Amino acid sequence: MESLLSVKDVEKVYDNGTRALKGVSFELKEGEFAVIIGRSGAGKSTLLRCINRLISQSRGSIVFKGIKTEKASKNELRKIRREIGMIFQHYNLIDRLTVIQNVLHGRLGYMSNFHGIFDLYNRCDRRNALRILERVGMEKETLKRADQLSGGQKQRVGISRAMAQNPSLMLADEPIASLDPVSSGVVMDSLHNICKEDGISAIVSLHQVDFAIKYASRIIGIRDGLIVYDGDPKDLTESAIKEIYKKSPDDRMENKDENDEEKAIAV
Ligand SMILES: Nc1ncnc2c1ncn2[C@@H]1O[C@H](COP(=O)(O)OP(=O)(O)O)[C@@H](O)[C@H]1O
Ligand SMILES: [Mg+2]
Repeated sequence: MESLLSVKDVEKVYDNGTRALKGVSFELKEGEFAVIIGRSGAGKSTLLRCINRLISQSRGSIVFKGIKTEKASKNELRKIRREIGMIFQHYNLIDRLTVIQNVLHGRLGYMSNFHGIFDLYNRCDRRNALRILERVGMEKETLKRADQLSGGQKQRVGISRAMAQNPSLMLADEPIASLDPVSSGVVMDSLHNICKEDGISAIVSLHQVDFAIKYASRIIGIRDGLIVYDGDPKDLTESAIKEIYKKSPDDRMENKDENDEEKAIAV
Protein backbone atom coordinates (compact mmCIF):
# COMPACT_ATOMS: atom_id res chain seq x y z
CA MET A 1 0.00 0.00 0.00
CA GLU A 2 1.24 3.47 -0.84
CA SER A 3 2.01 5.52 2.23
CA LEU A 4 -0.14 8.49 3.14
CA LEU A 5 2.86 10.62 3.96
CA SER A 6 6.46 10.25 2.96
CA VAL A 7 9.11 12.41 4.59
CA LYS A 8 12.51 12.08 2.99
CA ASP A 9 15.85 13.57 4.08
CA VAL A 10 14.16 16.66 5.41
CA GLU A 11 16.42 19.38 6.71
CA LYS A 12 15.43 22.72 8.15
CA VAL A 13 17.78 25.61 8.75
CA TYR A 14 16.09 28.70 10.16
CA ASP A 15 17.11 32.17 8.99
CA ASN A 16 19.24 32.65 12.10
CA GLY A 17 21.26 29.56 11.19
CA THR A 18 19.67 27.10 13.63
CA ARG A 19 19.66 23.61 12.14
CA ALA A 20 16.41 22.30 13.57
CA LEU A 21 16.11 19.19 11.36
CA LYS A 22 19.18 17.41 10.07
CA GLY A 23 17.84 14.79 7.68
CA VAL A 24 14.59 13.23 8.84
CA SER A 25 12.95 10.37 6.95
CA PHE A 26 9.92 8.22 7.65
CA GLU A 27 6.81 6.89 5.94
CA LEU A 28 3.39 7.04 7.53
CA LYS A 29 0.74 4.53 6.52
CA GLU A 30 -2.99 4.99 6.72
CA GLY A 31 -4.40 4.42 10.18
CA GLU A 32 -1.11 4.79 12.04
CA PHE A 33 -1.15 6.76 15.28
CA ALA A 34 2.43 7.98 15.56
CA VAL A 35 3.66 9.82 18.63
CA ILE A 36 6.77 11.98 18.46
CA ILE A 37 8.77 12.36 21.63
CA GLY A 38 11.94 14.29 22.38
CA ARG A 39 13.39 17.10 24.50
CA SER A 40 12.37 20.71 24.05
CA GLY A 41 14.18 22.03 21.03
CA ALA A 42 14.60 18.57 19.44
CA GLY A 43 12.67 19.66 16.34
CA LYS A 44 9.19 18.23 16.92
CA SER A 45 7.26 21.41 16.14
CA THR A 46 9.50 22.20 13.20
CA LEU A 47 8.76 18.79 11.68
CA LEU A 48 5.00 19.18 12.12
CA ARG A 49 5.11 22.71 10.65
CA CYS A 50 7.04 21.46 7.61
CA ILE A 51 4.47 18.70 7.01
CA ASN A 52 1.62 21.19 7.12
CA ARG A 53 3.63 23.74 5.10
CA LEU A 54 3.35 26.44 7.72
CA ILE A 55 7.07 26.64 6.94
CA SER A 56 9.16 25.17 4.13
CA GLN A 57 11.96 22.73 4.68
CA SER A 58 15.40 23.76 3.44
CA ARG A 59 16.12 20.41 1.82
CA GLY A 60 14.44 17.05 1.23
CA SER A 61 10.92 16.20 0.20
CA ILE A 62 7.55 15.68 1.80
CA VAL A 63 4.93 13.81 -0.23
CA PHE A 64 1.36 13.79 1.04
CA LYS A 65 -1.20 11.69 -0.86
CA GLY A 66 1.02 11.66 -3.88
CA ILE A 67 1.52 15.45 -3.91
CA LYS A 68 5.06 16.73 -3.53
CA THR A 69 4.20 19.41 -1.00
CA GLU A 70 7.14 21.71 -1.74
CA LYS A 71 6.06 21.88 -5.38
CA ALA A 72 2.33 22.10 -4.72
CA SER A 73 0.22 24.51 -6.74
CA LYS A 74 -2.13 26.88 -4.97
CA ASN A 75 -5.00 24.45 -5.42
CA GLU A 76 -2.96 21.49 -4.22
CA LEU A 77 -1.86 23.51 -1.21
CA ARG A 78 -5.49 24.20 -0.32
CA LYS A 79 -6.20 20.50 -0.60
CA ILE A 80 -3.23 19.64 1.60
CA ARG A 81 -4.26 22.13 4.29
CA ARG A 82 -7.83 20.88 4.17
CA GLU A 83 -6.86 17.26 4.48
CA ILE A 84 -4.44 17.86 7.32
CA GLY A 85 -6.16 18.79 10.58
CA MET A 86 -4.07 20.72 13.10
CA ILE A 87 -4.42 20.67 16.86
CA PHE A 88 -2.40 23.13 18.95
CA GLN A 89 -1.08 23.26 22.50
CA HIS A 90 -2.90 26.53 23.19
CA TYR A 91 -6.02 25.45 21.28
CA ASN A 92 -6.12 28.54 19.00
CA LEU A 93 -9.86 28.95 19.45
CA ILE A 94 -11.63 32.24 18.84
CA ASP A 95 -12.61 33.23 22.39
CA ARG A 96 -15.62 35.38 21.62
CA LEU A 97 -17.24 32.72 19.42
CA THR A 98 -19.33 29.82 20.65
CA VAL A 99 -18.18 26.22 20.64
CA ILE A 100 -20.20 25.35 17.55
CA GLN A 101 -19.00 28.46 15.69
CA ASN A 102 -15.43 27.49 16.44
CA VAL A 103 -16.04 24.00 15.09
CA LEU A 104 -17.69 25.38 11.96
CA HIS A 105 -14.54 27.39 11.36
CA GLY A 106 -12.97 24.07 10.42
CA ARG A 107 -15.18 24.17 7.32
CA LEU A 108 -13.66 27.43 6.09
CA GLY A 109 -11.21 25.66 3.82
CA TYR A 110 -14.16 24.28 1.89
CA MET A 111 -15.94 27.54 1.10
CA SER A 112 -15.33 30.89 -0.48
CA ASN A 113 -14.23 33.79 1.74
CA PHE A 114 -17.61 35.37 1.21
CA HIS A 115 -19.45 32.46 2.79
CA GLY A 116 -17.00 32.26 5.67
CA ILE A 117 -17.24 35.94 6.53
CA PHE A 118 -21.01 35.97 6.52
CA ASP A 119 -21.30 32.79 8.51
CA LEU A 120 -23.23 30.99 5.81
CA TYR A 121 -22.63 27.46 6.88
CA ASN A 122 -25.20 25.06 5.56
CA ARG A 123 -27.41 22.81 7.57
CA CYS A 124 -25.34 19.78 6.74
CA ASP A 125 -22.21 21.45 8.17
CA ARG A 126 -24.05 22.28 11.36
CA ARG A 127 -25.41 18.78 11.78
CA ASN A 128 -21.98 17.39 11.17
CA ALA A 129 -20.42 19.77 13.73
CA LEU A 130 -22.96 18.72 16.36
CA ARG A 131 -22.30 15.08 15.68
CA ILE A 132 -18.57 15.57 16.16
CA LEU A 133 -19.10 17.51 19.40
CA GLU A 134 -21.25 14.65 20.64
CA ARG A 135 -18.47 12.20 19.91
CA VAL A 136 -16.05 14.12 22.13
CA GLY A 137 -18.66 14.58 24.88
CA MET A 138 -19.16 18.30 24.27
CA GLU A 139 -22.79 18.26 23.12
CA LYS A 140 -23.98 20.17 26.19
CA GLU A 141 -21.56 23.04 25.63
CA THR A 142 -22.27 23.89 22.02
CA LEU A 143 -23.58 27.40 22.73
CA LYS A 144 -21.04 28.35 25.36
CA ARG A 145 -18.43 30.92 24.48
CA ALA A 146 -15.02 29.37 24.01
CA ASP A 147 -13.47 31.49 26.77
CA GLN A 148 -15.83 29.92 29.32
CA LEU A 149 -14.46 26.43 28.84
CA SER A 150 -11.86 24.52 30.80
CA GLY A 151 -8.58 23.63 29.08
CA GLY A 152 -9.64 20.06 28.44
CA GLN A 153 -12.94 21.23 26.95
CA LYS A 154 -11.14 23.76 24.76
CA GLN A 155 -8.92 21.06 23.39
CA ARG A 156 -11.90 18.83 22.62
CA VAL A 157 -13.28 21.77 20.62
CA GLY A 158 -9.88 21.99 18.93
CA ILE A 159 -10.17 18.32 17.98
CA SER A 160 -13.74 18.87 16.75
CA ARG A 161 -12.72 21.84 14.62
CA ALA A 162 -9.96 19.79 13.01
CA MET A 163 -12.42 16.93 12.47
CA ALA A 164 -14.89 19.25 10.74
CA GLN A 165 -12.33 19.54 7.95
CA ASN A 166 -12.78 15.85 7.31
CA PRO A 167 -9.02 15.28 7.41
CA SER A 168 -7.09 12.19 6.43
CA LEU A 169 -4.16 13.19 8.62
CA MET A 170 -4.27 14.79 12.03
CA LEU A 171 -1.25 16.68 13.37
CA ALA A 172 -1.22 17.61 17.03
CA ASP A 173 1.64 19.61 18.53
CA GLU A 174 1.80 19.00 22.29
CA PRO A 175 -2.00 18.85 22.58
CA ILE A 176 -1.95 18.07 26.30
CA ALA A 177 1.06 20.08 27.46
CA SER A 178 -1.14 22.68 29.19
CA LEU A 179 -3.52 20.20 30.81
CA ASP A 180 -3.66 18.33 34.11
CA PRO A 181 -3.30 14.52 33.96
CA VAL A 182 -7.04 13.79 34.12
CA SER A 183 -7.96 16.23 31.32
CA SER A 184 -4.96 14.96 29.37
CA GLY A 185 -6.39 11.46 29.50
CA VAL A 186 -9.83 12.64 28.39
CA VAL A 187 -8.36 14.61 25.48
CA MET A 188 -6.08 11.78 24.36
CA ASP A 189 -8.96 9.27 24.61
CA SER A 190 -11.10 11.54 22.41
CA LEU A 191 -8.38 12.09 19.84
CA HIS A 192 -7.33 8.45 19.74
CA ASN A 193 -10.89 7.08 19.51
CA ILE A 194 -11.92 9.45 16.78
CA CYS A 195 -8.85 8.71 14.69
CA LYS A 196 -9.25 4.95 15.17
CA GLU A 197 -12.97 4.94 14.38
CA ASP A 198 -12.61 7.05 11.25
CA GLY A 199 -9.34 5.55 10.05
CA ILE A 200 -7.53 8.89 10.30
CA SER A 201 -3.75 8.79 10.63
CA ALA A 202 -2.17 10.95 13.28
CA ILE A 203 1.16 12.41 14.26
CA VAL A 204 1.10 13.71 17.79
CA SER A 205 3.99 15.24 19.68
CA LEU A 206 3.94 14.61 23.40
CA HIS A 207 6.11 15.36 26.37
CA GLN A 208 5.01 12.45 28.49
CA VAL A 209 6.45 9.06 27.68
CA ASP A 210 3.68 7.23 29.57
CA PHE A 211 1.01 8.81 27.39
CA ALA A 212 3.06 8.08 24.29
CA ILE A 213 3.29 4.39 25.18
CA LYS A 214 -0.39 4.19 26.04
CA TYR A 215 -1.74 5.63 22.79
CA ALA A 216 0.87 5.25 20.06
CA SER A 217 0.87 2.51 17.47
CA ARG A 218 4.34 3.79 16.67
CA ILE A 219 6.81 5.99 18.49
CA ILE A 220 9.26 8.30 16.78
CA GLY A 221 11.99 9.66 19.03
CA ILE A 222 13.75 12.81 17.87
CA ARG A 223 16.97 14.14 19.32
CA ASP A 224 18.69 17.23 18.07
CA GLY A 225 17.03 17.19 14.65
CA LEU A 226 17.46 13.48 13.98
CA ILE A 227 15.26 10.43 14.43
CA VAL A 228 16.94 8.21 17.02
CA TYR A 229 14.05 5.80 17.58
CA ASP A 230 11.29 4.63 15.29
CA GLY A 231 9.30 1.62 16.32
CA ASP A 232 6.74 -0.14 18.39
CA PRO A 233 5.94 1.31 21.83
CA LYS A 234 6.49 -2.10 23.38
CA ASP A 235 10.12 -2.07 22.25
CA LEU A 236 10.77 1.32 23.84
CA THR A 237 13.15 0.25 26.57
CA GLU A 238 14.47 2.37 29.42
CA SER A 239 17.75 2.74 27.56
CA ALA A 240 15.98 3.79 24.35
CA ILE A 241 14.18 6.48 26.35
CA LYS A 242 17.51 7.63 27.83
CA GLU A 243 18.97 7.79 24.33
CA ILE A 244 16.09 9.95 23.06
CA TYR A 245 16.27 12.38 25.98
CA LYS A 246 20.07 12.46 26.19
CA LYS A 247 21.57 15.91 26.01
CA SER A 248 23.50 16.61 22.86
CA PRO A 249 26.99 18.14 23.16
CA ASP A 250 25.93 21.45 21.58
CA ASP A 251 22.86 21.75 23.77
CA ARG A 252 22.51 25.36 24.76
CA MET A 253 21.00 26.17 28.12
CA GLU A 254 18.97 29.16 27.05
CA ASN A 255 16.45 27.45 24.83
CA LYS A 256 16.41 23.98 26.31
CA ASP A 257 14.38 22.71 29.20
CA GLU A 258 16.76 21.19 31.72
CA ASN A 259 14.05 19.11 33.32
CA ASP A 260 12.98 17.30 30.18
CA GLU A 261 14.64 14.03 31.03
CA GLU A 262 13.36 14.03 34.60
CA LYS A 263 9.89 14.97 33.44
CA ALA A 264 9.85 12.19 30.91
CA ILE A 265 11.13 9.48 33.21
CA ALA A 266 9.36 10.56 36.38
CA VAL A 267 5.89 9.98 34.98
N1 LIG B 1 11.32 30.43 14.09
C1 LIG B 1 12.49 29.98 14.51
N2 LIG B 1 13.64 30.64 14.23
C2 LIG B 1 14.82 30.18 14.65
N3 LIG B 1 14.99 29.05 15.35
C3 LIG B 1 13.90 28.35 15.67
C4 LIG B 1 12.59 28.78 15.27
N4 LIG B 1 11.69 27.87 15.72
C5 LIG B 1 12.40 26.93 16.38
N5 LIG B 1 13.73 27.21 16.35
C6 LIG B 1 14.82 26.40 16.92
O1 LIG B 1 14.79 25.15 16.24
C7 LIG B 1 15.07 24.08 17.15
C8 LIG B 1 13.90 23.12 17.15
O2 LIG B 1 12.79 23.78 17.72
P1 LIG B 1 11.33 23.15 17.79
O3 LIG B 1 11.01 22.54 16.49
O4 LIG B 1 10.44 24.18 18.32
O5 LIG B 1 11.56 21.97 18.87
P2 LIG B 1 10.50 21.23 19.78
O6 LIG B 1 9.16 21.44 19.23
O7 LIG B 1 10.94 19.81 19.76
O8 LIG B 1 10.66 21.81 21.15
C9 LIG B 1 15.34 24.74 18.49
O9 LIG B 1 16.74 24.91 18.63
C10 LIG B 1 14.63 26.06 18.38
O10 LIG B 1 15.24 27.03 19.21
MG1 LIG C 1 7.47 22.26 20.13
